[in-house]
Amino acid sequence: MKSPLDGWYDKAGVRTDPRRVMARELEEGKTLFPHKLIPYLDHPLVAALEPEERYRITARHLYQYMQFTMHFETSVVNRAAERIANGTSGLPLPAATRLDAYKIYCDEAYHALYSLDVVEQVSDATGVEVPAYDFAPFLDRLDGLGASVMPGETILVQLLQVVVFETLVTSILKDIPKDQTVVGTVREVVRDHAQDEGRHHAYFAAFFKELWHDLSPALRERASRCLPELVSRSLTPDLVPVRGSLRLAGLDEASVSEVLADVYAPDRTRDGIRASARHTFQLFESVGVLDVPGARDSFMSAGLL
Ligand SMILES: [Fe+2]
Ligand SMILES: [Fe+2]
Repeated sequence: MKSPLDGWYDKAGVRTDPRRVMARELEEGKTLFPHKLIPYLDHPLVAALEPEERYRITARHLYQYMQFTMHFETSVVNRAAERIANGTSGLPLPAATRLDAYKIYCDEAYHALYSLDVVEQVSDATGVEVPAYDFAPFLDRLDGLGASVMPGETILVQLLQVVVFETLVTSILKDIPKDQTVVGTVREVVRDHAQDEGRHHAYFAAFFKELWHDLSPALRERASRCLPELVSRSLTPDLVPVRGSLRLAGLDEASVSEVLADVYAPDRTRDGIRASARHTFQLFESVGVLDVPGARDSFMSAGLL
């Protein structure tokens, strides 16, 4: 059987990509992160700040993205990849599928390493300090949802989480590599990452088919009710670091709240989630998730279809 991880020893970023090192791009007036992907940067209250302040906001946005990625890879993706690999996923998987999961495990650890590496390099080059980043609230929210919607199914929830995240197509991974306004090192790192993630996407789409096939009808029904909320809650942006960054830029508490309320209005957030999860929904559709009684309605009422 062919696998998306075939050829991993010769193709994976961790096996082939060089360390990406910050060169002279900072001096060429390039941005650290595409402005159009920082939704609050053009809000009138932020646009009115001095250019140096907006530059620091942009740097901190990059830090947040990279730090989120770093934690996410090791705490969420590798938590599930390890289970799949070491035989504690509860699924009867062939050895090849388990070995592939360890390849993904190595990939994600490398993604975490270079995410932090970029943060440190950019901070050294720009002098913009890296605020402390606490991933625990996001992880608690993600796991808390699983515990409330599917009590007693911790492992299944962890596997579903990873399927959702690994089959998303974010505009960050898709657009940054091509964006000539962005500093080269950031583009290169995101391109390296996107190439590995293309293989992971294919692996987890196939994995989900196995997983779903193996579930009892009762569990399928529970899982299909949990999935819309799992997708929504997983993809709702973490605003705590944004709030902190805007405070550091000198906005007072009321202005920060105004910016966030305008920029992250529920409708806009839902549109963003729908766009990045469209391939995930197609996967659900193709596997029959939406044919489970009540499933389509739960997706509709969550505003996802
Ligand atoms: Fe990754
Ligand atoms: Fe991945």
